[in-house]
Amino acid sequence: MKKIEDFKDLYQKKVLVRLDLNVPLKNNQITDTTRIDKILPTLNFLIQQNSKIIIISHIGRPKGKTNSALSMAPVCEYLSKKLSKKVDLLNQNLFEIKPQEIFDKSDDKIVFFENIRFYEQEEKNDEEFAKMLSKFGEIFVNDAFSCSHRAHASVDKITKYLPSYCGLQMSTEVDALKKVTSDINRPITCIIGGSKISTKISVIKNLIPKFENIVIVGGMANNFLEYSGHNIGKSLKEDNCNPIVEEILSLAKENKCNVLIPTDVSVGKNLEDSKTIKTLNEIEKDDLILDIGPKTIKLICSVLDNSKTVLWNGPLGYFENPNFAIGSIEIAKKIVDLKDKIFSVAGGGDTIAVLNQAGAFKNLNFVSTAGGAFLEYLEGKEIPGIKALN
Ligand code: 3PG
Ligand code: MG
Repeated sequence: MKKIEDFKDLYQKKVLVRLDLNVPLKNNQITDTTRIDKILPTLNFLIQQNSKIIIISHIGRPKGKTNSALSMAPVCEYLSKKLSKKVDLLNQNLFEIKPQEIFDKSDDKIVFFENIRFYEQEEKNDEEFAKMLSKFGEIFVNDAFSCSHRAHASVDKITKYLPSYCGLQMSTEVDALKKVTSDINRPITCIIGGSKISTKISVIKNLIPKFENIVIVGGMANNFLEYSGHNIGKSLKEDNCNPIVEEILSLAKENKCNVLIPTDVSVGKNLEDSKTIKTLNEIEKDDLILDIGPKTIKLICSVLDNSKTVLWNGPLGYFENPNFAIGSIEIAKKIVDLKDKIFSVAGGGDTIAVLNQAGAFKNLNFVSTAGGAFLEYLEGKEIPGIKALN
């Protein structure tokens, strides 16, 4: 990957920067700013070079439609404060803007495109869309490692049309992960939680031969509980997953990988509810499984006691409600307690938010901004955004 720091002449160059500022939001307020804070060095570098900066990012999954709850506006506001610079949110249709005019009124500002996933062409990696985007810049920088596992237009196809470089955070993360995965100590425990079941369930298959223990929590655990014959009420789950769950369990047996799923849970009747601890046989039709229970916490802690490395992506429960953040916070604390005995790596936007809540962020050996991309990196898969830069 060519690094933007090595590019010689950035003076007044229009630099199109893809960032992953997909930060957690609650009522249009950013609840964790880590992903923004981490890319400030790249923007400051470009500012020092007197480049003209145009930022592309996404928040959430608007599925090709404009959705004001997923506007980049709160991110622009925060960024403007952090950089002490004007940040202009461009919310007109990009197809209707003349690229040469966006810096017309003022040179001294950053231009920020509205959520790029408001365009359905983005996720389709659409050629014409990428070409249109490329007209806004002279150079492309990808500093979005955490969404580089997506072959989307502003990550992948755009590199066909502009000289392309990686940003400072991207190269830091990739170098760190390379190092972590090349000299890793066993036994290794991998904890996989969160709510993006469809993304992660297929990744697990490929992780099984690599690790001694895989702890399946969060939304995905519900699919495993249902497969093993338990009622999961109204809990989040992915449809038609039984064949893959079966394959994962049989691969685990073959490879002597210990797959751990919850043995007790914490439920509510809705996301705002208080918690009730239940055994797996007590779950009712209208229950939502929202966290692991105390027995499962103990079980995971004992696995960690016997591990030399822990890799963690995805909260263990619905941490947005503090009643269901207990599993995540207890595991974060346990990892910190073991800090002299275990090498710890965690990744993902929500995982970072949980680590910050638990006051654990600084005590881990490495924290990646990436969740899905982090898991795919562990799989040993080629990451489209990285491939496109090579
Ligand atoms: C993330 O938060 O993991 C990235 O922004 C990618 O989001 P996605 O899973 O919706 O593609
Ligand atoms: Mg995320």
